[in-house]
Amino acid sequence: MSILFQETTIRGLTLRNRFVRSATWEGMADAKGAPTEELIQLMGDLASGGVGLIITGYAFVSEEGRGGPRQLGIHSDELVGRLREMVREVHSRGGRIVAQLGHCGIQAAYNLTGMEPIGPSPMEGRPGRGMTLEDIERVRLSFARAAKRAVDAGFDGVQIHAAHGYLLSQFLSPYFNKREDAYGGSLEGRVRLLVEVTRGIREEVGAEKPVLIKINCEDFLPGGLTLEDSVKAGEILVKEGIDAIEVSGGMRLAGPKFMPSRLGIRHEHEEAYFKEAAKEFKRKVGVPVILVGGIRSFQVAERLVEEGFADYISMSRPFIREPWLVNRWKGGDLRRAFCVSDNLCFEPAQAGEGIYCVTERRETKGE
Ligand SMILES: Cc1cc2nc3c(=O)[nH]c(=O)nc-3n(C[C@H](O)[C@H](O)[C@H](O)COP(=O)(O)O)c2cc1C
Repeated sequence: MSILFQETTIRGLTLRNRFVRSATWEGMADAKGAPTEELIQLMGDLASGGVGLIITGYAFVSEEGRGGPRQLGIHSDELVGRLREMVREVHSRGGRIVAQLGHCGIQAAYNLTGMEPIGPSPMEGRPGRGMTLEDIERVRLSFARAAKRAVDAGFDGVQIHAAHGYLLSQFLSPYFNKREDAYGGSLEGRVRLLVEVTRGIREEVGAEKPVLIKINCEDFLPGGLTLEDSVKAGEILVKEGIDAIEVSGGMRLAGPKFMPSRLGIRHEHEEAYFKEAAKEFKRKVGVPVILVGGIRSFQVAERLVEEGFADYISMSRPFIREPWLVNRWKGGDLRRAFCVSDNLCFEPAQAGEGIYCVTERRETKGE
């Protein structure tokens, strides 16, 4: 049996294989942020399709942190009932699911929230203000309460979104974080909010449930987060009880070449573009490393695990086109994922229609 289909555990959570659906904003929640039937169905399909661990799209922990249309919410107790239905659907089909907790910070969609964005520091040419200590405490509590809701809804754990230039990634990054108080400056300062958020979450979820984190290995911005600091942040956070680290990198601001979802992955050598960074994490952090970014071939995925670059293989876009990809591979059809990495999937989500593979529809339905 391939190493990819081995059963493993993360803090007591048993996973049937090493495939992870990386968090993907589906744009399929209702106006309040509750999962719709369509989203519940999609999560069920991913579970039936063989994914070992599903990570939800980033769910906003407070209104001011919302980032996109029809984004999933976890900011209010009202949502727990519907979230529970989504979790049940996944469990009933043999899957496992963790909630990704997010706050977009200074990059929040103020046109959706009607609120002034907040971040570590104001940014030139953008609306938004630097956070006060009261704001910091409120955000810390928002993450902790969201984690409590995740437990109440039956999620198998949570993942803290600290990548891609959103709030916690902004705090870590000297590009965004110009603070001169205890939450800025040295790495110790820049990681402080993340440490506090992790502690707050752990208090709520208890010792049984895994708490994962997704982090940028590098921002790929001048003066942004470096690999060295990112790995050190990982080591600090593991001491605070983080159970696995998903390694990503970049952000939209860094330009098309350095987005987390890079374009046109056509050849094996273009796949797994953060693998060297992941190896650094593997060397230092002592918890499982989940690698994301451009993985498209079964053989590449297998080698990544066998050669010690990562413990888990995480994908986003391939599952938009083929929610059943894991079972296809398991059944012996080892052709690479049909995803062509053109990022057209963002467009229907942005238009409020919910994600789908635009290219596949064009090919099969001639749209
Ligand atoms: C439509 C879309 C939505 C995404 N939403 C999220 C998200 O909510 N949270 C997150 O951490 N990453 C998000 N990502 C990034 C992916 O999780 C992943 O890191 C990236 O696409 C690279 O993996 P891939 O090459 O397998 O797609 C999104 C990507 C896409 C294409």
